[in-house]
Amino acid sequence: DRGEFAHHMLKEIFEQPDSLENAMRGRLVEADASTHFGGLNLDPQKLRQAERIILTGCGTSYHAALVGEYLFEEFARIPVEVEYASEFRYRNPPIDRNTIVIAITQSGETADTLAALRESKRKGHTTLALCNVVGSTIAREADGGVYLHAGPEIGVASTKAFTSQVTVLAMLAIYFGRLRHLSALQGMQMIERMRQLPEIIRETLTCYDDVRRVAQRIHTARSVLYLGRNYLYPVALEGALKLKEISYIHAEGYPAAEMKHGPIALVDADTPSIFLIPRGGLFEKVMSNLEEVKARGGPVIAITNDGDESQLAHLRAKCDELILVPEVPEFLQPLICSIPLQLLAYEIAVLRGCDVDKPRNLAKSVTVE
Ligand code: F6R
Repeated sequence: DRGEFAHHMLKEIFEQPDSLENAMRGRLVEADASTHFGGLNLDPQKLRQAERIILTGCGTSYHAALVGEYLFEEFARIPVEVEYASEFRYRNPPIDRNTIVIAITQSGETADTLAALRESKRKGHTTLALCNVVGSTIAREADGGVYLHAGPEIGVASTKAFTSQVTVLAMLAIYFGRLRHLSALQGMQMIERMRQLPEIIRETLTCYDDVRRVAQRIHTARSVLYLGRNYLYPVALEGALKLKEISYIHAEGYPAAEMKHGPIALVDADTPSIFLIPRGGLFEKVMSNLEEVKARGGPVIAITNDGDESQLAHLRAKCDELILVPEVPEFLQPLICSIPLQLLAYEIAVLRGCDVDKPRNLAKSVTVE
């Protein structure tokens, strides 16, 4: 039931304050300054010995895995590799003994992800699954796992499952971190910020008005670039995937600083670039990437934080459009910044008359190779 919403996708985007609340319910434990999961089925000693983590999945779940890489490396200090499940299943990478393979999947039925999981098990690795669908094949076959509790996702384009995956990965990073180097103080601060997430997401959704204006301006484009750095590089990839899937506009995501190594050749008056440029350590760096695009006549849309007026004035002078989202610590930026990109893909697809919930050539769950 879509209720008041025109499409399942829009309903699911607006459900995210609740789906994230459900992902965190009972899992943030102030008393331990850590997180808790019922279904990992692994004793902490074994987890502490983990020397490497491999995150694997397809499509949007693969992008969540890329965010997970930044999270695990920053907070748990464990080397992480991210692999497309479809590639991982046929490769023969050297893997050490103390490696944990984590499969990420909304449906729990994706054929490539299942095959990657089975191959990892066959080699004797400990496997975990982050799944949304309870009792799905991958949830059943993994040694342990964490459910997303996002509720049914009906729109073919994944939205709330993605933010729940990232939320669970952040909680896992705290958990692994607290078994190793992360101090109680740091753990506590992260938990406090995560508790505020549902409210912050609610506030973020008010960017819909900004997004509508941007969609009006760029919905006739034939190609769109998405640029971000650090935690927001995977979000740029995800934003581009959303647009491709439901509006059939060609889009590419890049680390913002990679532009000058080739993609900037695509920039012209008809090719908008969407920059993820929140306040923080890399603001000035991304700003100079943005100026390079502007100088070549490309329309520039910036997604940034409200608040600091002088910084905003500076951005306004350089950009054609601004979309404002709340300011959060860096590790939560992927959650906040993916929301305007989901809404933008949705709005553009609607303006182009596309079938948002059932895009051509795509199925909700890809159970063939
Ligand atoms: C994107 C999308 C797909 C899926 C991919 C993996 O919006 O829906 O890219 O993310 O097919 O599906 P799951 O997560 O079910 O394994």
